[in-house]
Amino acid sequence: MILKAVSHQGHEFLYQQVIQLIRDMSAQQALLPSEKLPSLRKMASNLNISIPTVKQAYQALEDQGVIEAREKSGYFLKAVNMASSLPKRVKLSREPVIVNKQALIEQVYTAIHQAHVVPFGVANPVAAAPTDKALARNMRRVMTLAGSSAINYGPLDGYAPLKKQLIHRYLDFGIGINMDEMVITNGAQEALAIALKCVTKPGDVVAIESPCYHGIIELIESLGLKALEIPLCPDNGIWLNDLAQALNEHDIKACLFSTAISNPVGSFMPDKNREQLVELVESHNVVLIEDDVYGDLYFTPKRGTPAIAYSKKGLVLSCSSFSKTAAPSYRVGWLIAGKFAGQARRYKRALSCSTSLINQWTLSEFVFSGEYDRNLKVLRQRLRTNKEHMRRCLQQAMPKGTRISDPQGGCVIWLDLGCEYDSQKLFSLALEVGISITPGLIFSASNKYKSCIRLSYGVQWGEQIEQAIVTLGKLTLLAKK
Ligand SMILES: Cc1ncc(COP(=O)(O)O)c(C=O)c1O
Repeated sequence: MILKAVSHQGHEFLYQQVIQLIRDMSAQQALLPSEKLPSLRKMASNLNISIPTVKQAYQALEDQGVIEAREKSGYFLKAVNMASSLPKRVKLSREPVIVNKQALIEQVYTAIHQAHVVPFGVANPVAAAPTDKALARNMRRVMTLAGSSAINYGPLDGYAPLKKQLIHRYLDFGIGINMDEMVITNGAQEALAIALKCVTKPGDVVAIESPCYHGIIELIESLGLKALEIPLCPDNGIWLNDLAQALNEHDIKACLFSTAISNPVGSFMPDKNREQLVELVESHNVVLIEDDVYGDLYFTPKRGTPAIAYSKKGLVLSCSSFSKTAAPSYRVGWLIAGKFAGQARRYKRALSCSTSLINQWTLSEFVFSGEYDRNLKVLRQRLRTNKEHMRRCLQQAMPKGTRISDPQGGCVIWLDLGCEYDSQKLFSLALEVGISITPGLIFSASNKYKSCIRLSYGVQWGEQIEQAIVTLGKLTLLAKK
């Protein structure tokens, strides 16, 4: 077994490099499911690092469910993390496409948002650790504090105390942002729309990851843009070689990627790749719009650094929101627009004037009190446990040969049922018995992923959920083409 040396001069801690090394070996099948890992001593001596460092890495991998310790036998790659059971790599799209998915997305969207269904179709992580009571308490206090301004318009580009808090959080990554570079928006969706409007015009080509969150596909269609799909690796974010090829072959105006954790796959892009991504895109003078909504819901040892931190030319615009960490109903997000900020503010004003003052103020108090971060910690733990439960239940319930992603964060998991299955059919069958799922077709700008589904584990885990997975497995057998 040839081991890639870790770098003592690298930006990442040594133990994190060991984690990445094992994950790479597993992805490339240099380490097979159930195979024994090198002993702590052997690994330490091979890599010229200390035994405690290797132990720290192995323990983290064990926590992540990648490897398991067997008593008196050592560490083994877990069977469920078989690289061969992860979704397959798709091919780089040859040409950009005009998107025509709105009708289908509307149909799915209306169906999955029904009340009283098991909500596997809705990506609402906060349901796993609800914030409603804490937010209600904060809002009552804010209503009293605010008096008559509670019913007034808020400042056009956002409530200053909230912006200040957000700016302080970016400082943790060494990112310095001026107040006027940030615009508070109605969720990340509006931030993405404004970012796209700032840097593209109808007919331009935008590179997106594949599979891609359907809200972005819909946005590209509604703005009259073309989409070029770049394949996503289940482990590491988009394939950078494919993106490099696409940038050489097409006149791409902007790239829009989930730079931290992707939806629907749950792939985590390591910092090293994110840095290379920014370098690559900026070397072509192309804009990168980063969608970081799931950035704080990581299961990895540490949060991914926002891509904007690596920008040298100011061509990265960053979008995020409180929808996945506090309350999607509040519709509070933000855009860091850098040198495009003037234009971004104008678009914001034209589109929606301002974002709800009372919601921003409440979130600001929630963050300031420390409750936001305390809840976030619980939320991450619950989602990670839910993910493990869901993978275990799916392994048992779904037909043999089903490929299941191993999300490294977020609240959704991606399944490829195999080409003999029709996910649209499964979507209808499941709805009839009160289970919502999201069919794969709406995660592609073209016609990919007909045999795939996305399920959300942003739920209160329990018997009813496990039973619904068993039912889904049975219905899948009826969803053959
Ligand atoms: C990847 C991704 N980006 C953006 C959004 C939109 O977020 P918001 O609800 O803040 O508009 C979502 C929501 O599901 C998402 O999953």
